[in-house]
Amino acid sequence: MSTTQQSSSPIGRDTQRIDGPRKVTGLAQYTSDFNFPGMLYAVPVEATIANGKLLSLDTSAADKVPGVRAVFHRGNIGKIFRSTPAPGFDRVCLERRPPFEDDVIRYYGQYIALAVADTFEAAKAAADAVRATYSKEKPNVESRLEAGNDPEVVFTAYGPQARLQSHRGDAEAAFANAPVKLDETYVTPAETHNPLELHASTAIWEGQMLTLYDSTQGVVNLRSVLAQMFGLPKENVRVIAKFLGSGFGGKLYPWTHVSLAAAAARQLGKPVKLVVSRKMMFQTVGHRARTQQRIRLGATSEGKLLSLHHDYIYHMSMIDNYHEDCGEATPFHYSVPNLRVTFGRARRNIGATADMRGPGAVPGLYATESAMNEMADRLNIDPVRFRLLNEPKIDESLNLPFSSRHYVECLNLGAEKFGWSKRNPVVGSMKRDGLTLGWGMAGAAWVAGRFAAEANMQLRDDGTVRIACATQDIGTGTYTILAQLASEKTGVPVNKIEVDLGDSALPDGPISGGSLATSSVIPAVFKAADQAITSLMIVAVTTPGSPFVGHKPEDLALEGGRIFVKAEGVAKGVAFGDMLRKGNVRLVTGSGSSEQTAFVPNPKVSMHSFGCHFAEVTWQPEIARLRVSRVVSVMDAGRILNPLTGRNQIQGAVVMGIGMALFEHTTYHPQSGAPINSNLADYIMTVNADAPPIDVHFLDYPDKEINELGARGIGEIGLAGIAAAITAAVHHATGIRVRELPIKIENLLV
Ligand code: MOS
Repeated sequence: MSTTQQSSSPIGRDTQRIDGPRKVTGLAQYTSDFNFPGMLYAVPVEATIANGKLLSLDTSAADKVPGVRAVFHRGNIGKIFRSTPAPGFDRVCLERRPPFEDDVIRYYGQYIALAVADTFEAAKAAADAVRATYSKEKPNVESRLEAGNDPEVVFTAYGPQARLQSHRGDAEAAFANAPVKLDETYVTPAETHNPLELHASTAIWEGQMLTLYDSTQGVVNLRSVLAQMFGLPKENVRVIAKFLGSGFGGKLYPWTHVSLAAAAARQLGKPVKLVVSRKMMFQTVGHRARTQQRIRLGATSEGKLLSLHHDYIYHMSMIDNYHEDCGEATPFHYSVPNLRVTFGRARRNIGATADMRGPGAVPGLYATESAMNEMADRLNIDPVRFRLLNEPKIDESLNLPFSSRHYVECLNLGAEKFGWSKRNPVVGSMKRDGLTLGWGMAGAAWVAGRFAAEANMQLRDDGTVRIACATQDIGTGTYTILAQLASEKTGVPVNKIEVDLGDSALPDGPISGGSLATSSVIPAVFKAADQAITSLMIVAVTTPGSPFVGHKPEDLALEGGRIFVKAEGVAKGVAFGDMLRKGNVRLVTGSGSSEQTAFVPNPKVSMHSFGCHFAEVTWQPEIARLRVSRVVSVMDAGRILNPLTGRNQIQGAVVMGIGMALFEHTTYHPQSGAPINSNLADYIMTVNADAPPIDVHFLDYPDKEINELGARGIGEIGLAGIAAAITAAVHHATGIRVRELPIKIENLLV
């Protein structure tokens, strides 16, 4: 066999998704596409109060629905144990209370029973026929937030957090004495994850072995949680997620429907499928917390920051401990000698809060970047220049150098590409085609680092390569990235590389979260490849009749899929598949791993991605029509492995950011506590008609501290700062400052 193989590197090149054809032809199987003989359907019964107690359940009508197999509740579901946090980044679960554990109703939609039947329709009819009685109290869904009575250090889903999050100098005194001051409060609403694909779980028991098909952003974490909830060794649980219709953070960790599906399947001895409804998506599977953030800035009249206070409060559910870390980027983003970042929490009768794309930093940067824009206006300094004046030399909160920070270049390039120098700062002064233009900008930052990861590589006698890792592709392009990495090491083109993801039986991989999956897998894949190639070279020098007999393995190299003697060059090489067949070897393998570097104590450098957005809005006061008409985004996210999918990520995030600025908010009914806009007609999101041209630029500086390729991550940073850029543009067009998202038309009709 001899095929022509490309030797040029696929890294940094636009590469179409290798799973694209499977998706567009319908071959890709999402969780709810898997069906099994004898499979039953489960539909949960939702509480219709948000605060109180379940007094009784009457299932007599439900039990009589034809095709019903069981109606489960606390009395007959069997044991579901509580999962507990593990050290490191494992066994994360945001709603720890197992379903049905007690009779207390803490939020609207909490599951109180589960109907299981031969068909989905029968299960739904049975669920609807269950009658519940409650003792009911008025729910607390108050939108105005006041910090509860929390200790100085709170225990959160990710470990202990001091409520005095960061401080240096004397922020109070410096603020009091500052020549120019700003003191404003910014509010972001509860937002609900609405990936196209609903959450879904199908559970199958074979004896003491549990297999779960689940729409999860973390098969390995889910395996750990389930093992504990069902009292099983980890080896007895297998979680599979081959394709996801995205998740946006809502699918990082398991919700209560997952253990319900598994418990029902156990009780009935049949596979059970449970697909969460769109309405339930607003109730039981997490949302981004509402936040209320007071920012105080003090500056010299020349525009040097003297003091920065960031005091934020977020809402949370009654018994969970998710931390919405709005202060994540505040301590290092700008140079300021006096700083204080604190948080408080307000408990509400709502479902658990959760990570949502750019958790913490996205609402946080909306507040801090809005304050920076307002301060620049007070100082009569251009907002880009104001940021340049406060560029830090190091991370002033950790007293550490940045691994790679090119924020100044982001700002300058963004200004140039957008045409910022033509901006007339006078409100309402810029016009085009009879429309009033508004131009605004803001900065962005997001964490970088690695989670632990393992990978396994096979080189096979047909010249193909397989790479396997128990991470998953939520639609971002992870299959393609792993193929590119394997191709880089072997020279085999991406279409001859089989990538196996989304199965906890594979070597442990990271969650698809924190924008860390790509950076985490690189060292693991490269080490796996090096080990597999070493095995291959041993075959090459030991196989009788091989042209490489007499050489040492280290004399040889692999390029373009061909083994050759380094001193002689690749032209004299042998295709590795030919060599394996000559040796009667089907395949050689290699394994590699990478250690966690993100969220570890005592880092050596401060590692983040940076970026900025420039936004234009058009405003027609006559008919109150506001449009985002163009966006320029510049990202400093390390080396970009696949600019095509990379641009997709930033564009998608900007589209979501337009929704954050103008549309998205979950509204709770003050009496019932129900999220009342719990459908895609009433929960407004950006659609194609709202999406403007989005011009994305990457700086592409490798960050050598993070991995061999210098690649950080790009899944989330595109959503940071965009809402602040849009609200600034709206102010520039209309003169109106909106400090509570989303901007509503009525805000602009004053
Ligand atoms: Mo992202 S919120 O870490 O899926």
